[in-house]
Amino acid sequence: MIALERATKPLKGDICVPGDKSISHRSIMFGALAKGTTEITGFLESADCISTIECFKKMGVIIERALKPSNGVPMLTVHGNGLNNFTAPDSTLYTGNSGTTTRLMTGILAAQPFDSMITGDSSIEKRPMKRVMTPLNQMGADITSLKGNDCAPLVIKGGKRLHGITYRSPVASAQVKSAVILAGLYADSDTVVWEPALSRNHTEIMLSAFGADIHNEVARDGSSAAILHPGMPLHGIRINIPGDISSAAYFIVAALMVPGSELLIRNVGVNSTRAGIITVLKQMGADITLLNEDNSTEAKADILVKYSELHGNANNCFEIGGKDIPTMIDELPVVAVLAATGNFDTVIKDAAELKVKESNRIDSVVENLKAMGADVEATDDGMIIHGGKPLHGADINTHNDHRLAMSFAIASLVAEGTTRILDDACVNISYPSFFKDLQSLL
Ligand code: S3P
Repeated sequence: MIALERATKPLKGDICVPGDKSISHRSIMFGALAKGTTEITGFLESADCISTIECFKKMGVIIERALKPSNGVPMLTVHGNGLNNFTAPDSTLYTGNSGTTTRLMTGILAAQPFDSMITGDSSIEKRPMKRVMTPLNQMGADITSLKGNDCAPLVIKGGKRLHGITYRSPVASAQVKSAVILAGLYADSDTVVWEPALSRNHTEIMLSAFGADIHNEVARDGSSAAILHPGMPLHGIRINIPGDISSAAYFIVAALMVPGSELLIRNVGVNSTRAGIITVLKQMGADITLLNEDNSTEAKADILVKYSELHGNANNCFEIGGKDIPTMIDELPVVAVLAATGNFDTVIKDAAELKVKESNRIDSVVENLKAMGADVEATDDGMIIHGGKPLHGADINTHNDHRLAMSFAIASLVAEGTTRILDDACVNISYPSFFKDLQSLL
């Protein structure tokens, strides 16, 4: 448990947030699938990404950590096995709390010559896996759910010949897209994954840097395809991972809420498939400027954010929905916190995916905002927040969801009295130094 009080002064200064979680997972996975060595700096050393490392170590991949002699920066070296040289794991692969590890690994395991089983913690064992089982089995894989509930543990039979498919995913999900594309690397023909809107495209960008023939096409209606021609050899590369915009989001919101604040968050990934929070908050009147933009491979920038009086639109309401949702899906809990402090209503819609994250984030956000005195109601695909009610401290039930713990730690900065985050250790999933970094600004 950690007890937090209202901020007594503006938040000022420069900070760096840890490396991007999605890119960190992929750097290990694709490094393992490639031939040769991949050197990674900026890697996020959090529980989720360590789950990915452990899974590959169990399949015979050598991954080393050292400090770079030139500058003392931690560097991971992955000695890639290549697509076809993994060893059969001697026990079930354990993915902890990580949906990305579970779903992307399933795509890789589907194509291996050996049988395997994969599962994670109690949250992972409740999350939907049919969304990857269906397309992978269409490709010729043999994946079943051990308990017959379409959830992990997943039992994967090896030795299957996979063929390319054109798959239309009903949800915009980078995990589904990536699982199918990774299996597609082993298929005998092209794999095309359509999704209703472009989800984060780190897989496409990074696989292409490793040598794969893959690209995105966006149709006029906004639906998007990832198209892979298999057969190109993957070779090890150097990767420098930028800070995670999902982690930066907590400090962006903190600076916008606490009067007089001004923060510079350095070297953050601002790939447009991830940066919806910046676009949407600017529409709400947020004073956010991107500095030192670098658009090579994964776009990055320093983010300057200043306290701002936010506003709704003409009828004093602000709507967040449609194609913006996949570009800020993980930031919606902290955006909901911010919305509760504005003098307008906010409607979050088209976000039913929130129900199947590490917790049911519609219910868990609404429950805790209510506990802090906000006027908020859950809907089928999001929530309606009637802003402007003063927040007060409360006991926050995070449901062991890292993003809940951090979002409500930020809420505490403008709440009267003490806010207690009951199971604060869950921040280790994506941001182990979160409370230390927050404290350094108070
Ligand atoms: C992720 C994709 C998103 C996101 C998750 C990380 C990824 O999930 O919520 O935190 O790294 O591919 P979905 O693919 O389920 O939308």
